Amino acid sequence: MGVVVVAAGSGSRLGASLPKAFVPLAGRPMLAWALETVAALPGLRSLVVVVPEALADPSLPPWSAVSLPVGAHVVAGGAERTESVAAGLAALDPGCDVVLVHDAARCLTPVAVFERVVAAVRAGADGVVPGLAVVDTVKTVDADGVVTGTPERTTLRAVQTPQGFPREVLLAAHASGMVATDDAALVERTGHRVVVVDGDPMGFKVTTPEDLERAERLAGGPRA
Ligand code: CTP
Ligand code: MG
Repeated sequence: MGVVVVAAGSGSRLGASLPKAFVPLAGRPMLAWALETVAALPGLRSLVVVVPEALADPSLPPWSAVSLPVGAHVVAGGAERTESVAAGLAALDPGCDVVLVHDAARCLTPVAVFERVVAAVRAGADGVVPGLAVVDTVKTVDADGVVTGTPERTTLRAVQTPQGFPREVLLAAHASGMVATDDAALVERTGHRVVVVDGDPMGFKVTTPEDLERAERLAGGPRA
């Protein structure tokens, strides 16, 4: 199994002076938290960390508090998340049968979520996403903000990472040249069946300063 951790975003909504993955959470960069969990995964064969081009050298100072697992590769990402994932896939050991793609910004995701995703891929799914039931009623709207629909809430899931795929399926989806905010969307569009497994509230994405405060509070507590 191989893992691509995407950490190449700038974090514009967080608004810190460093790229988001290198911003400290309880004293250690968010990337360090994410990599600690990935390094603990049973069966990990290959790990690629995708970072902003300016930080692609792990001897640079922002890396000093990140322990990079032995054998991990660091590569530069692109302007869109999809490009960053593609760069990571290109550097992954081709012998990996299953590939997980994980957002460094979901730095507190428990290892159990990774294990559920891997198990579902090994059980035969073309794509696996961790998801949570949606608590709010969700509306679709047009460009003028006029409501165009109200999907039945029980049919909705808020999805997280890691998302898992057989390597060949994910490579083919990326070769299509499409762009999306998650990898499962590319796999869905290539006609494959993607299934949802239980996500975890700790798998939320640190996006805003309020999210970082919440993560700081939670990082002090027990971890799964
Ligand atoms: N990501 C990436 N390459 C990009 C954009 C995003 O590797 N060009 C990664 C981020 O580092 C993050 C994950 O994708 O781990 C989810 O993206 P997001 O939360 O949107 O992070 P940023 O793009 O950094 O934040 P913002 O959109 O606020 O600028
Ligand atoms: Mg972004």
